[in-house]
Amino acid sequence: MTDLEAPLRRFEEALAELVQSEVLFIRLIHQDLVTAGGKRIRPRLVFLASRALGGAPFELELALAVELLHSATLLHDDLIDEAETRRGKEAAFRKYGNAVSVLSGDFLLSRLLHVIARTGRMDLVERFAQVAKTLAEGEVLQFQVAALEDYSLENYERIITAKTAALMALCTEGPALLRGEAPEVREALHRFGLLYGQAFQMRDDYLDLMGTPEVLGKPVGGDVREGKATLITLLLMERFPEVREILRRRGREASDLERLRALAQESGVAQEVEARIRRKAQEAVEALSPLPENPYTLALKALALKEAERLA
Ligand code: IPE
Ligand code: IPE
Ligand code: MG
Ligand code: MG
Repeated sequence: MTDLEAPLRRFEEALAELVQSEVLFIRLIHQDLVTAGGKRIRPRLVFLASRALGGAPFELELALAVELLHSATLLHDDLIDEAETRRGKEAAFRKYGNAVSVLSGDFLLSRLLHVIARTGRMDLVERFAQVAKTLAEGEVLQFQVAALEDYSLENYERIITAKTAALMALCTEGPALLRGEAPEVREALHRFGLLYGQAFQMRDDYLDLMGTPEVLGKPVGGDVREGKATLITLLLMERFPEVREILRRRGREASDLERLRALAQESGVAQEVEARIRRKAQEAVEALSPLPENPYTLALKALALKEAERLA
């Protein structure tokens, strides 16, 4: 049984409690963003990794902390990306303005500090400090690469690892750290989280071009509008010089997105991206070989293998 219903319910209650504030706008933003849901992938990773090892101290605090960091980055990210919707609703900065949105993200970061302080574990504080630094660097690197048109698969890998996979790796490695597991187990879970996180961002980027906004609950085409080359556009760029031009003009022409979609389908690049996601997921599964074989370990593997087909 890998039923996470009970821990996830406790998680939702504790999260709602943590984002309470006497300030109405803060409450409203967090009602939308935090309590109105999301896939809760990161807390799920924490609970599965913890239970795969037989349970870790402070798993709830860790699950709360990773989701708080994630939600704070989304508040900042939507403003940076000028994304109009998030989780099926109007993005916070559009409703409440830039200042309120940034400051509410900072509010979430303050709650994250509170939660990890509660564990009294300096090693965890240190890991969060590293991940928050890496995440910010990843977001900036992405803009630097777009500004300098420094497009390459190496830079793409650096970006997705820093902005997304590093936090996923903390989700899965965290329980091993808190339990004082042997380095072999810690490293296995770290590696799984990194590979899973890369596959996850690769899929997110694929859907940014090929997905539907209604299903995703957020806009599509944003990466092209921001001049961000992702796996699909990078592979297209190798074959069709016009793709670099489309990114350079930020997809401003009405037919640009359709053109990219058609090229991706016709050239087989769309399928190539899916195959690469599948290979990443497979590598993630293999990384878990030092873990005990139990339903939670299997559930982690199944989660990774779903990435190549995920639609939302
Ligand atoms: C969105 O993350 C940001 C990325 C790292 C791609 P999620 O897709 O996990 O967002 P929610 O939490 O489900 O809304
Ligand atoms: C994820 O990248 C950003 C963070 C890790 C904060 P995206 O910009 O692609 O995420 P979405 O697509 O807006 O959710
Ligand atoms: Mg974004
Ligand atoms: Mg995206």
